[in-house]
Amino acid sequence: MSHSQEYADLKKWYDETAGERCEDMTSFFDARISGYEEHMSFWSEHYSRIAELIPENAANLLDLGCGTGLELDRIFERFKDIRVTAIDLTESMLEKLREKHGGKNLETVNGDYFLYDFGENVYDVAVSVESLHHFTADKKAGLFKKICRALKPGGIYIECDYIVEHPETEELAFSECKRRRERDGIPEGQYVHFDTPLTLEHELEAMRAGGFGEPALVENLKGTPIIIAKKRGG
Ligand SMILES: C[S@@+](CC[C@H](N)C(=O)[O-])C[C@H]1O[C@@H](n2cnc3c(N)ncnc32)[C@H](O)[C@@H]1O
Repeated sequence: MSHSQEYADLKKWYDETAGERCEDMTSFFDARISGYEEHMSFWSEHYSRIAELIPENAANLLDLGCGTGLELDRIFERFKDIRVTAIDLTESMLEKLREKHGGKNLETVNGDYFLYDFGENVYDVAVSVESLHHFTADKKAGLFKKICRALKPGGIYIECDYIVEHPETEELAFSECKRRRERDGIPEGQYVHFDTPLTLEHELEAMRAGGFGEPALVENLKGTPIIIAKKRGG
């Protein structure tokens, strides 16, 4: 079987880094906080676009995996008084977010979005940027169900995240992640920073499984899609 270039490039990178140990998710971000925002500036256009896509009348917003709040920087420029709940596993990232936006209507939650209860019919908008590409389709479907429940009827979920083009690349990433976790004795349930992106089709499928009606690709900037999924009703 001949493999895609995407597969070949990833396989080559795995071979080159085969001996690297798995890094715990929070420790990974803690260790990289100083150069983090410069590194993420590649996606600056995405952050602006996400802010533009939020409906004019949005009053309550949930940010899942907010980090230092690069998307919130743009969102607060456009919506000065919006009420934001921002959740992240890594406290050092949240500290930086609070330093930047201390005067805003901002609640930060240091926690796991798979475990946290977001409530029901609370938010007009939920966003998640570059955070969910570490998890399986099944785990994401469960989270999408919670996001859908937390949105008001007609509310929207905007996701911008890393995807792969081919299912074979998706499978390769999951199998390499499994190999490294087993080798390093990582207990089930511990999050490690290892990218396991889905294909766009599988990402949309997980959103539908989570109860979103018509998730749609809004645009694909520099290979990173922005997807909007709407809660029925409203
Ligand atoms: C690459 S950063 C993206 C941060 C921000 N959204 C941005 O675009 O700059 C991914 C963030 O997701 C957070 N994260 C990963 N898994 C999480 C989980 N299960 N619950 C909450 N936060 C999580 C990490 O701590 C990290 O801050």
